[in-house]
Amino acid sequence: MDFSLSEEHLMIQQAARDFAQTELLPGVIQRDDEQKFPAEQVKKLGELGFLGMMVDPKYNGSGMDTMSYVIAMEELSKVDASTSVVVSVNNSLVCYGLEAYGNETQKQKYLTRLASGEIIGAFCLSEPEAGSDATSQKTTAIDKGDHYIINGTKNWITNGNSAEVYIVIAQTDKAKGHKGINAIIVEKGTPGFEIGPKENKLGIRGSDTHSLIFNDVKVPKENRIGDDGFGFKFAMKTLAGGRIGIAAQALGIAAGAYELALKYSKQRKAFGTEISNHQAIAFKLADMHTQIQAARHLVYKAAWDKDQGNNYDLSGAMAKLYASQVAMETAVEAVQIHGGNGFVKDYHVERLMRDAKITQIYEGTSEIQKIVISRSILRD
Ligand code: CAA
Repeated sequence: MDFSLSEEHLMIQQAARDFAQTELLPGVIQRDDEQKFPAEQVKKLGELGFLGMMVDPKYNGSGMDTMSYVIAMEELSKVDASTSVVVSVNNSLVCYGLEAYGNETQKQKYLTRLASGEIIGAFCLSEPEAGSDATSQKTTAIDKGDHYIINGTKNWITNGNSAEVYIVIAQTDKAKGHKGINAIIVEKGTPGFEIGPKENKLGIRGSDTHSLIFNDVKVPKENRIGDDGFGFKFAMKTLAGGRIGIAAQALGIAAGAYELALKYSKQRKAFGTEISNHQAIAFKLADMHTQIQAARHLVYKAAWDKDQGNNYDLSGAMAKLYASQVAMETAVEAVQIHGGNGFVKDYHVERLMRDAKITQIYEGTSEIQKIVISRSILRD
């Protein structure tokens, strides 16, 4: 078994690290304060091929593997999780969903523009009463022959306002349960489709989270992804890969907080020496480093499973569960190591601590990951 990264992976890591330092770090505190969407940064990421990393070059993607994607996600997330969530949603949920399950017309019409970063997309599953319990959709997509009429509300949608293309999961036939759900592509500007107010969030404040309102929105049937009734499976299959991206985001938040704490502990003096010379701090750093390395192994294993064509439901859920827990714990400890400075925005760790929390909530809470993991191990 070879634990080293390939030349290509090291190059991607360096490119993402350089981008994070030169393009994301300046202004990251201000964007967080002002809840400003990183439009310029996202545009540049698109030009560099980070928004369609795993998409086939024939659809304007970068044709890379999932390992490359998680390596890039970690580096971007060390500095700016508000930007990396845009990268994650566009790659894992929107581009992957369309490439794996869309038809050729949908790929030509939408995927080519999404993978190049010309436009970005959103994945619309959650509702006021259907976040974790994803089969209890209240949004309806009623079959009217050659089109659907969509009605309902979606909540907490990442890229809610900045997207141009929305994949909406809605109930067509309630009597059929999860087999009556469809995934339908809705374009921004379709009559009756309104973008609700922006959420004022604890973390990832630069990202653009909105509710969406559908009032008799007419969408042609050719915008349905897959066969009639495939929408729930589409969502589950797509989210299984999305969880690997969010696990990598959590890993990046943890690693970013750790690196800042390590550096600070070697500079800051107390009781006559650098605080890293005190076991109280050194042992915290030892725990953080160990947990981050363990999380990285889980994230890489899940990415490797996906690249090998193995089932990644279990490894992806384990990676997300553990990496998000490590992100939260590490960021809290990084604030503690920074003491009073940790509570101040200029030192970045308080932001990473706020950002870490969402990784335990979106694309399935930690409890959902435990459902997926326990079902998998009990079934085998
Ligand atoms: N791959 C393929 N099929 C799957 C699957 C998977 N990973 N998971 C479930 N299915 C299939 C099942 O096989 C079953 O099909 P059959 O009846 O044909 O066998 C069907 O889907 C229903 O499965 P379950 O009975 O297991 O469904 P459930 O109602 O018990 O729910 C759950 C399972 C895991 C709890 C699921 O509801 C879930 O994942 N919920 C969380 C949803 C979620 O992650 N929401 C986050 C919103 S998106 C987001 O946050 C994006 C963002 O903006 C950043």
